[in-house]
Amino acid sequence: MKIGISLFLLVMIFACNQVSENKPTATPETDKDVFMERGQEITAEVFTALASTLRKKLKEGGVSAAVQYCNLAALPIVDSLSEIHNAKIRRATLNERNPANRSNADELKILNEYQNAKTMGSILESKVLVDGESVLYYQPIMINNFCLQCHGVIGKDIAEIDYTVIKELYPGDKAVGYKDGELRGIWSIRFDNSN
Ligand code: HEC
Repeated sequence: MKIGISLFLLVMIFACNQVSENKPTATPETDKDVFMERGQEITAEVFTALASTLRKKLKEGGVSAAVQYCNLAALPIVDSLSEIHNAKIRRATLNERNPANRSNADELKILNEYQNAKTMGSILESKVLVDGESVLYYQPIMINNFCLQCHGVIGKDIAEIDYTVIKELYPGDKAVGYKDGELRGIWSIRFDNSN
């Protein structure tokens, strides 16, 4: 039993070291797999950070409290994890709630590719692309039932009263009307080798 616990701790320490290592040593051309893995680790970590606080706030004060919290905390959480990982981490979408998350030209292309693939019935997979000195990692973000209370249909999934709070914080909000299983956006990570 003791050995089991020590072994577990050892594995955890090893895994944590890997995560906190600042920069992959691989060169972009040769080691796409390394970046694929790092991208997946980072998005999982950022998602957990966002989702756990969101669930906590929802439980404490409902949708309006959670939305107000997101308004203050979502970007700082993503930014601080960007710093830890020495990478630029973003969430990008065609239908933004926060204007800072509107897709740039490269992200727009990827979002359209994913949307087309989805229409064709394909499974959407993460991508690693090389852009000069940088490596770009993209991963689709899908809508599930939990998301609908803030991104679904107003008056059906989102209570009208909650939407007034959203609209106050995000007057140009476009991130509503989604259905379960739809593409909501992408994780977009830039690993910059010249850093
Ligand atoms: C409690 C309400 C709430 C829930 C539940 C919620 N979101 Fe959001 N979402 C927000 C708010 C508020 C923002 C704007 C955050 C900001 O200011 O950066 C946002 C932003 C986003 C963004 C960034 C793009 C944009 O439009 O600004 C993505 C992607 C996203 N949400 C996906 C999801 C997904 C996927 C789920 C379900 C797993 C989900 N959200 C659940 C409230 C919510």
